[in-house]
Amino acid sequence: MNPVNLREYEEAAKNKLDPDIYHYFAGGAQDEVTLRANEAAFRRLMLVPRVLTGAGEPALDVTLPGTAASMPVLVAPTAFHRLADPEGELATGRAAAGAGVVMITAMLSTVAMEEVAATGVDLWFQCYLQPDLGYTESLVRRAEAAGCKALVITVDSPALRPGERARSALLELPPGLSCPNLGGDGDIRQVTLSPDISWKELDWLRGITSLPIVLKGILHPADADLAVAHGADAIIVSNHGGRQLDSAPATIDRLPLIATAVRGRVPVLLDGGVRRGTDVVKALALGATAVAVGRPVLWGLTVAGEEGVSRVLEMLRAELANALTLCGVGSARQVPRDLVVTDGPAAAP
Ligand code: FNR
Ligand code: LAC
Repeated sequence: MNPVNLREYEEAAKNKLDPDIYHYFAGGAQDEVTLRANEAAFRRLMLVPRVLTGAGEPALDVTLPGTAASMPVLVAPTAFHRLADPEGELATGRAAAGAGVVMITAMLSTVAMEEVAATGVDLWFQCYLQPDLGYTESLVRRAEAAGCKALVITVDSPALRPGERARSALLELPPGLSCPNLGGDGDIRQVTLSPDISWKELDWLRGITSLPIVLKGILHPADADLAVAHGADAIIVSNHGGRQLDSAPATIDRLPLIATAVRGRVPVLLDGGVRRGTDVVKALALGATAVAVGRPVLWGLTVAGEEGVSRVLEMLRAELANALTLCGVGSARQVPRDLVVTDGPAAAP
């Protein structure tokens, strides 16, 4: 069994995982309209290659807030990696370090952020702003002390999605696993997802830390504009992988509007449904500086631990380099907008 692409990694992981855990990882909210839309929207976009550009082997490296990366792909924050592999986030961290990519570790990780940082990975810490600001501040100070290079504030979760059946609703950890970022005993009720959180708390956060702040979960161009106005250093166009508001639009469909609103003032990142190097090229062409991948990392981790995550990342790197080459593009930092068209007859060149 040797998966040759990210989809085959999912199949292999599905065969290996306890079904409840597989469904927790794979699932989305309610009817999974948004979950499916993320991937479907990429498939509606086509790439129009340019020829004889003499562009050479494409350069893949990019600059992100606080960090340089070997390619425009980050590890998205996903909870509970020890459900996939006994080493959990440690294995993910080592693989991301080896690949030279940024790992965003979740507030709900099953290994403490300090231990993940000790793998040497360029680490960003994902946090839900807590109504108890003292609690939030203690997490920020821990992230600073651990050497995290940015804070990722997830803003698409003023409440937990509704759970249905086993799917997406697995929130009770098996014995032996805990969330040490929360203080230890793994009771995730220690995380409050609050509808009272507003730009006011973001302003407070901006005032207490000099770490770059990345806002994750933006879908409206007006919110992208507000994010910049309130001092965000980057934004991530995201619908939480279709796991929060079902019927939220596909991220790649929102990207052009958001990139226009941001006008290059801060990097725009995107996650949701990225499964191929060509998906990365589409996002870069439409205005993203980089993308993040969530589930594919969990599939690699399930199948072969650190080695599996490494292989998933290297597959994406090889596919991305190949796609850029076939498009006649020499750098991931300069991907022309007119590379992307929607499927169907052309209305213009
Ligand atoms: C997530 N995601 C997520 N996001 C976040 O900000 N904090 C979190 O704790 C989690 N946890 C989490 C668990 C699991 C199992 C999944 C699949 C996702 C969302 C994640 O960061 C990202 O937005 C999506 O996973 C991106 O979509 P793809 O790449 O999975 O399609
Ligand atoms: C999830 C939460 C933990 O998507 O963000 O499962």
